[in-house]
Formats: sequence, C-alpha cells, structure tokens
Amino acid sequence: MQEVRVITPATVANVVCGFDCLGFALSEPFDEMLVRRTAEPGIRITHNDEFNLTTDPRQNMAGVVAAAMLERADVDFGVEIEITKHIMPGSGIGSSSASAVGTAVGMNRLLDDRFSQLELVDLALEGETLASGSRHADNVAPGVYGGFTLVRSVDPVDIVGLEHPPLWATIIHPQVEVKTAEARSILPAQVPLKTAIRQWSNVGSLVAGLAAGDYGLISRSMEDLIVEPVRRSLIPHLDEIKSASMAAGSLGGGISGSGPSMFMLSETEVTARSVEKAMHSVYRQTGIKYKTYVSAVCRDGARVLDAA
Ligand code: HSE
Repeated sequence: MQEVRVITPATVANVVCGFDCLGFALSEPFDEMLVRRTAEPGIRITHNDEFNLTTDPRQNMAGVVAAAMLERADVDFGVEIEITKHIMPGSGIGSSSASAVGTAVGMNRLLDDRFSQLELVDLALEGETLASGSRHADNVAPGVYGGFTLVRSVDPVDIVGLEHPPLWATIIHPQVEVKTAEARSILPAQVPLKTAIRQWSNVGSLVAGLAAGDYGLISRSMEDLIVEPVRRSLIPHLDEIKSASMAAGSLGGGISGSGPSMFMLSETEVTARSVEKAMHSVYRQTGIKYKTYVSAVCRDGARVLDAA
C-alpha cells in the first residue's frame, strides 16, 4: 500500500452529562486526508485549506501521531500527509482529534492494519493530548469507532461502543474563541457527592435510553450539573439556543465539547431542521458570525475511501 485517502468525521464530546467520557460522530462536516508512503524517512505535512495550521510535524497533531505509529511499528519508511480540513479548528466539534484520528486510520492501512481500533484510539490520543494539554478520548473514540462511545478509562484505554437509535444533531458554531485548555482550567477540582450522584445517574440513564431507543429517557438525561454551569459564561446565548431548540421539538443538548459550538439532538431530520431555523432566529440578531450544520449521528468513524 502506497497511498491512502481517509475521511474523518466531526465529533461531539461530553453529550451534556458525560464530561470526558461520552461522544458521538457526525456525518458532516468531515476532514479529508491523503497519507502517502515515501522511501525517504521523515514526516512531511501539507495543508490544502485556509486555516494556516502549522506543518511542523512535531507541533501538528497528524505529525505527532504519524511519528508515534512509525516508532511503535518499528518501520523505517517516511510519510507525506496532505490534510484538507473542513472542520474549523477551535470549533468544539473535534477538529484537532479529526487530524489525529485520520492519520491513525490512514497510517494503519499503510502498515497493513496491524493496530486494533483500541490501539488507534491510544495512538490518536498522543496528538489530542498535544492539542488540549490533557489526555481525554471523548472526541477521538467516536472518531475511530463511529456512533456513540463511552470512554471507561484512558489509562489503559478502554472504550465501549454504544447502541443507539436514529438521531439527528443540529450544531451552531458561533465564531468566538474558546480555548480547550482555558475552558478546562476553570472547572472545579472537586464536586459535592450529591451533585456527582445526580450526574452519574444521568450518564447511566442516557446510556440506557440510547440502548433502548427511549427518546424520553435520552431527553431527561441530558442535564449537566457540573461543567455547563461553569462554562456557560463562555458560550454566547446558550440558554436562548437551548430554549428555542426545545420549543422546536429537540430532545436536548448543550455545549459541544468545550465549545464554542452548541449541539441539539432530535429524533428526526425534519425536527433537526426546525431546530436549525430556531437557532437562526436566536443568532441572526446577535451580530456574531456563526455557522450551522444538520447531520445524522453517524454509525461510521474515520474510513479509508481508497487505497493504492
Ligand atoms: N471533554 C473535553 C472538554 C472535550 O470538554 O474539555 C474537548 O476536548
């Protein structure tokens, strides 16, 4: 195998109550990558997009993951990685983890699929850790596995793929800057036991609601008593987005990852599109630049489109 083309989905982390442990994959937007084997050793990165991300392989997530894979596989060839990002960096829908995951999946094909999905999460985490300064896999795991995932542990990596009924996500990305490292630094180091009990009850019931296809239970479980109350000040018009979306028939939602994007889940595409209209009606008058997406929750993770 000399050259592999991969597409990698955007992902939503936390899913309201599951900070650092729950996530799901979207059908769009997605990134495209070309990973090419070269005879001469070393890693070269090019970007075919307008985001001006670094191409230094020691600073770029893709470079960090590729280096980790070459070392772990103990091979001496080099790679060229061409990245076309459609997931805007800093949007809160897993842009950095998409670069890491796409590289892991593409490199794995060049290496004759020698790594398991679990190992790919572990390898992609090397890049994600560089981006956010902390080791959490709630974007990386759905990027590799697709669908909904639960990260039971990152050390060692233990991922649970979750059953789920058809679901649609509506995303709004206000173009304001929220840095993940900063959004993490403001979180409480400790939580009262009563609060923790309610939070883990919600995580359990959300997983049960997804498995049973019980949309009412899914809706009731999307409540966050720990992270959202602290981060809400970073996310413009979060409360208005949530209430307008619920009035349009959404099941619930909140901040996507560390923001600034917000997501709302719906049972059908028709409702997800009504939710998008409701989001427009909130944001149109704010003067803040924004983008919206409507996407099915995608059962596939990153996948190889063609290889030669
Ligand atoms: N779980 C992470 C957070 C996702 O909320 O900080 C962003 O990387």
